Amino acid sequence: MKIFENIYSVRAVDSEIREFHGYKTPIGTTYNAYLVIDDKITLIDFVKAPFANELLNDIQAIIGEKPIDYIICNHVEPDHSGALPEVVKSYPNAIVYGTAACEKELKAYYPDSTYDFKVVQNGDCLHTSHHTFRFLPMPMVHWPDSMSTYLEEEKILFSNDAFGQHIGTGEMFDTDLGLEKLLDRAGDYYANIVLPFGMQVQKVLEAAGAIDIKTICPSHGTIIKKFIPEIIEKYSDWSANKVKEDKVVIIFDTMWGTTRKLAQKLSDDYTQKGFHVEIINLSDYHYSYAMSRLLEAKYIFVGSPTLNNQMMPTVSAFLTYMQGLKPKNRVSLAFGSYGWSGESITKINDILTSCGFEMLDPIKTMWNY
Ligand code: FEO
Repeated sequence: MKIFENIYSVRAVDSEIREFHGYKTPIGTTYNAYLVIDDKITLIDFVKAPFANELLNDIQAIIGEKPIDYIICNHVEPDHSGALPEVVKSYPNAIVYGTAACEKELKAYYPDSTYDFKVVQNGDCLHTSHHTFRFLPMPMVHWPDSMSTYLEEEKILFSNDAFGQHIGTGEMFDTDLGLEKLLDRAGDYYANIVLPFGMQVQKVLEAAGAIDIKTICPSHGTIIKKFIPEIIEKYSDWSANKVKEDKVVIIFDTMWGTTRKLAQKLSDDYTQKGFHVEIINLSDYHYSYAMSRLLEAKYIFVGSPTLNNQMMPTVSAFLTYMQGLKPKNRVSLAFGSYGWSGESITKINDILTSCGFEMLDPIKTMWNY
């Protein structure tokens, strides 16, 4: 689909996918690739491997029998680079541009593929007759190889994972989606993918602040034209772990209902004090949903009954996942019921403490509440 003069989206819409390395994607996603036509033809990013033929067909429908001259690989993770083997087979003379880490990782993933590779550094440019592609590496947003590419004349930032949204319902632009849904999906994505890399995101925002951006073309979800200030402001807040002081998220699982009663009591108490409280039962919701809901919450309360001297596996999975995503600047509390030993509360408390959270006194009750 043509999105601007001489610039096309050749994305794949994966509306069926629900599992993304442990992260549930309830409405699917897209793998965004872009084609820029000039005296030379440049492909920016690929799609996931099962969509390689769809990508090649889309490209051929636009450029016919002309070759692709340049390929910019902003990120190696296979949701983006998976189609590389098929693309370089079809366009063997294309030169691939990426960071030094990108070259190394591509070789590891696709040892049987052959292509010319040019390593780029921060600020290097690729010129075609009417276009200048400036490379802006952004290591760890999301992998060591990650890079964004700025198309100077059009003021488009091809931001790859940054500013992405897992949304596979077909909208092309942020204006088709609306601000509320854009920020909801971008927040869900940030909480589950980008959250550990706040410092690196701040560097990206600093670099982005130095350039004039009219359009952000990420590698997942919609193209952002209208709501650039709003999403940049959100990224600034999320990367600084700026939270809502009056927001409480209570995450728990229960066996015979006592821990649920404790969760409800906590909710009632904090609601009465004027807090906005959300309760999430991990039997009903996946941990990645809980992660998304706590992105802006100052207070994270976690509860489990004791089961065979442990916490419930759902709670354990949530805590393992959250530990890896490293939210900061939070106040936390462990709670739960028990029959005779009560280890779950201590174990939850220890994990939350190891996250660096300010801890409130744990709450535990025997048998019933
Ligand atoms: Fe969308 Fe880090 O891959």
